[in-house]
Amino acid sequence: MKRPSFNLKLPGWHEWLIYLTTAVLLLTGVAWLLLDRFAKVQGEFGPEPNPALPWLLMLHGIVAYAFVIVAAMLTPVHMRLGWSSHRNRPSGLLLVGVSLFLAATGLALYYSTADALRSWFSLVHWLAGIAVPLVLVIHLLRGKGSRPRRRPRRQRN
Ligand code: HEM
Ligand code: HEM
Repeated sequence: MKRPSFNLKLPGWHEWLIYLTTAVLLLTGVAWLLLDRFAKVQGEFGPEPNPALPWLLMLHGIVAYAFVIVAAMLTPVHMRLGWSSHRNRPSGLLLVGVSLFLAATGLALYYSTADALRSWFSLVHWLAGIAVPLVLVIHLLRGKGSRPRRRPRRQRN
């Protein structure tokens, strides 16, 4: 059976909002990790957490909301039509899975207070987070590769 083919190219503003929110999440997440591990400040009673940490986490949390909105906007057209035309399904599904996992573990980080649970959520959250650029690049490359080839126009004699 012939598969339906749709134009799945996102409008430029939507594509760039995805890149922008992903980049800010990645930068603030990685900066938080580096400052938390390697940039303690000397306080009156010994090494203390870097004062930039809460600010980075606040920016990260705000942009996480924006990311969820921008990603959810992909559901009715991009994901639905991509799915029904069998284009880019595995990497699309992986991207959906990683995004949902990050949103869920992010919420768990925000609300959990038990230290042991928190450090476990933190580890799985940032490990999945630093894999996002790779998953996104695979999705973009495979998406381009899955475009239906245009038939060459017949020449009129
Ligand atoms: C089942 C889910 C998904 C399917 C089937 C799917 C399918 C596709 C396809 C077919 C393309 C290539 C469009 C083209 O250039 O002709 C594409 C590109 C793209 N996808 Fe997805 N996708 C899914 C989920 C996602 C998710 C969750 C995100 C982001 C969070 C995303 C972001 C993008 C971006 C940024 C592009 C490149 C921009 C573009 O080509 O317009 N996709 N996707
Ligand atoms: C893109 C890659 C990402 C990286 C590298 C990353 C990294 C991090 C790190 C290092 C933390 C701090 C962990 C801790 O407190 O121990 C964090 C917290 C958090 N992340 Fe992410 N993250 C990413 C994406 C996301 C996404 C997509 C969401 C949600 C959609 C999200 C939501 C959150 C939330 C809600 C918190 C807790 C904020 C708070 O406690 O105030 N993150 N993230």
